[in-house]
Amino acid sequence: MRLAVVGTGLIGGSFALAARAAGLCTQVIGVEPDVERGREALRLGLVDELAATVPDDADLIVLAVPSDRVAALIAGLHAHAGIVFDVASIKTPIVAAVRAAKGALPQRYVPCHPIAGSEASGPSAARADLFRGHAVVLTPQAETRPDAVAEVARWWWAVGASVSNMTPEAHDATLAVTSHLPHLIAFAYLQTIEPAHLAYAAGGFRDFSRIAASDPAMWAPIFVQNRAPVLAALDGVERELAHIRRLVETGDQQGLAGLIERARTRRRSFRAPGSTVPVITIDGPSGSGKGTIAGRLADLLGWHLLDSGALYRVVADAALTRGVALDAADALAVLALSLDIRFVDGDVWVDGMDRTLAIRDEAVSAAASRVAVLQPVRDAVLDLQRSQQRPPGLVADGRDMGTVVFPHAPLKVFLDASVEARAERRYIQLKNKGLPVSLADLRANLEERDARDKGRAVAPLRPAEGAVIIDSTDLSIEDVLARVLAAARARGLVIRT
Ligand code: DC
Repeated sequence: MRLAVVGTGLIGGSFALAARAAGLCTQVIGVEPDVERGREALRLGLVDELAATVPDDADLIVLAVPSDRVAALIAGLHAHAGIVFDVASIKTPIVAAVRAAKGALPQRYVPCHPIAGSEASGPSAARADLFRGHAVVLTPQAETRPDAVAEVARWWWAVGASVSNMTPEAHDATLAVTSHLPHLIAFAYLQTIEPAHLAYAAGGFRDFSRIAASDPAMWAPIFVQNRAPVLAALDGVERELAHIRRLVETGDQQGLAGLIERARTRRRSFRAPGSTVPVITIDGPSGSGKGTIAGRLADLLGWHLLDSGALYRVVADAALTRGVALDAADALAVLALSLDIRFVDGDVWVDGMDRTLAIRDEAVSAAASRVAVLQPVRDAVLDLQRSQQRPPGLVADGRDMGTVVFPHAPLKVFLDASVEARAERRYIQLKNKGLPVSLADLRANLEERDARDKGRAVAPLRPAEGAVIIDSTDLSIEDVLARVLAAARARGLVIRT
């Protein structure tokens, strides 16, 4: 795959780094009119080579230039065979300008906006993890080919972002309020600051003013191109400022307290950048009941389910059947990446075969806990796990869902139980399936696997920071579920039950 990055600044450079780190492309070509910038991007290794124009054989083309230059570039790529997407913070004017120039959008152009960035700009600000845990909005149009949309979504998932669709109009109106307006206000506020003030500026200044250090070349066109939504948002703030002014003038302390309380409540319900799609993580040792609880919870909420243990089981199963040694880290990672793993209605399909039952075999269980200690294997399944974070939400169970894979999850549960209780549960489970088992063997296996899961150097089993810890030894499934639901409700997460 050849990736062409037009504009090698923060966003273009970060996408190039992230795509390469995820193994998505073999070659990155930078198209950068600013000679200095281009050289820097080359020196920093963001791109492999520079070109004056987008090469004809580029498979994917990302347009990461100021928003007022995007439409002309898209129009110029009308006949290009590659998939094109932009990253601009406005969508309607770009779509309209391309249609005005060409009559229609190119079918392989996917309007796109990653909601990630920073006040820093230029190639040196690029980071491979810039998009990890962030939302990306796609605004495909009637002309846009579904396979182009799927391909662009696949790239974003692979670099750790979550993807959702919106209309261009809804996108622009939303971003006017959540992004354009705060920048505009910060730019205005900084006009009132004198160097002498800065010696006494503290946390409040820092938090409020950070975005005022953003790039003028990027921001000036956004305000002009998104004029109507930005002006509507500005009207709202001007009304509020006039109101606050009156409250201050008249010394209405109660009125001010009410207004601040409303603001505080809204700020507190804001979830940290991570994703607009909520995740509940349930980690714990084998047999703690996480699989059952996660499944029930996902059903109740109508959310997706990620059984991450199944992934390690699938890799182990494939290694056993293909004769790959269980300690051959790199070979196992390559194997993991080559497998086509699909979760279909609770079943696990691998390379077109239903392996749901096969991966529950005790030999596979033991092998899974061995392959799971290997960092390359864990890296290989990381993107697949994160890509399951799809609307309306995800329940993810495993060992490191809250500590490593979804550290920003709004609810993290750690489910534990005594080894006796867990061995007993597994015994009954397997017995009911008609499988021959001994309780003593099961307990010994569990203890061995516990030791390996907890003692390993990479992603050891432990409660995530802020996790709700539940010991299910003496609790029924319903009791555990009730506790998890209560914790979810307390975090404003339960959408329907
Ligand atoms: O939950 P399980 O028994 O299906 O998991 C199978 C193995 O995979 C188990 O030994 C622990 C490991 N695992 C892991 O290391 N990280 C996860 N997130 C999930 C499972």
